[in-house]
Amino acid sequence: MRDAYNRDINYLRISITDRCNLRCLYCRPMEGVSLKGHDDILRYEEILRVVSRVVTMGFVKVRLTGGEPLVRRGFVEFAADLKKIKGLEDISLTTNGILLAKYAEGIFNAGITRINISLDSLDRDKYAQITRGGNLDDVFRGIAAAEKAGFSPIKINTVIVRGFNDNEALDFAKLALTRPFQVRFIEIMPVSEVDTGYPADFLPNRHLQEIIGRHFRLIPLAARKRKSDGPARVFTLPDGLGEIGFIDPVSDHFCATCNRLRLMADGKLRACLLKDEEVDLKAALRRNCNDGELDELIRRAVRLKPEKHDLDCTDKHLKKCHRDMSDIGG
Ligand code: GTP
Ligand code: 5AD
Ligand code: SF4
Repeated sequence: MRDAYNRDINYLRISITDRCNLRCLYCRPMEGVSLKGHDDILRYEEILRVVSRVVTMGFVKVRLTGGEPLVRRGFVEFAADLKKIKGLEDISLTTNGILLAKYAEGIFNAGITRINISLDSLDRDKYAQITRGGNLDDVFRGIAAAEKAGFSPIKINTVIVRGFNDNEALDFAKLALTRPFQVRFIEIMPVSEVDTGYPADFLPNRHLQEIIGRHFRLIPLAARKRKSDGPARVFTLPDGLGEIGFIDPVSDHFCATCNRLRLMADGKLRACLLKDEEVDLKAALRRNCNDGELDELIRRAVRLKPEKHDLDCTDKHLKKCHRDMSDIGG
């Protein structure tokens, strides 16, 4: 499906819950347990219905996010149902890995074979600090279980917070050298009112790339492999097993190649990560709208997609964006 700027919109990110078992400093406020009740969030059947419709409109890829998707009950069965939708070429998962040791095999057997795992520090104390209490060993166990189950690729998402974990860049690069992972460095974005100390904590990825490039041979992968690929600039390591990626939402707007919509747990379809334009699908789903009406709402969200976001590294907070990242799912 084409949007107003002639971009092919073919990738739906679905946040299946806003709940999370961590509280990352840059993602959500310390307080604020989700107030959303059972009826406030889309039922799995409703999500499946939306996916069936977007597939008829040319979407080929779905990514499941949260909050933390694995805290929602019935996830594995839901994944298996999603897999049955014909025309969906690619289903993947973004998780913090805490519960992965328990679920990796079941998820893989349900037919999800690609996974992205968030991991911001390789140091136990720092990991506990940035996640406000997370246990790094749980994530390591989760990654090991994902490898054992057969997930490929396994991507590690590392949000870089200047002065906190930028000194670990080479350790993360080493991880990509010795393990078959794609390690991706993500520029921190100031979303909602979560105060991370922005812009002081922002570090452009080019800086890390230069440091890593001094120690490792980085060979750029030619552009995107598939039309539904995400925004990472990916490099292979000829001397290693894995790859390194850079996701530069702030220093290098990749909006011109944006290919996605975001469905959030409360049933709102969000046109852009960093803007508040949304279309409510839940109300329509709950009054049992017909497919034509649902399709029109989806088309409306596509029409609402802005040409680009207007965030830059001098912004204190992105006041225009009122959702926490844990609502939107990254
Ligand atoms: P694959 O290419 O399929 O691996 O997925 P992905 O990179 O799209 O998914 P992932 O959930 O791992 O996204 C990584 C991070 O990149 C997100 O959490 C965001 O921080 C950032 N990101 C992804 N898409 C966008 C986008 O459209 N706009 C902006 N500004 N940032 C994005
Ligand atoms: N800036 C950049 N990335 C973020 N993520 C969450 N909050 C932010 C932020 N403020 C990333 C997580 C995870 C993905 C779902 O979104 O680290 O990898
Ligand atoms: Fe951390 Fe992800 Fe949970 Fe946010 S959604 S608190 S980034 S683990």
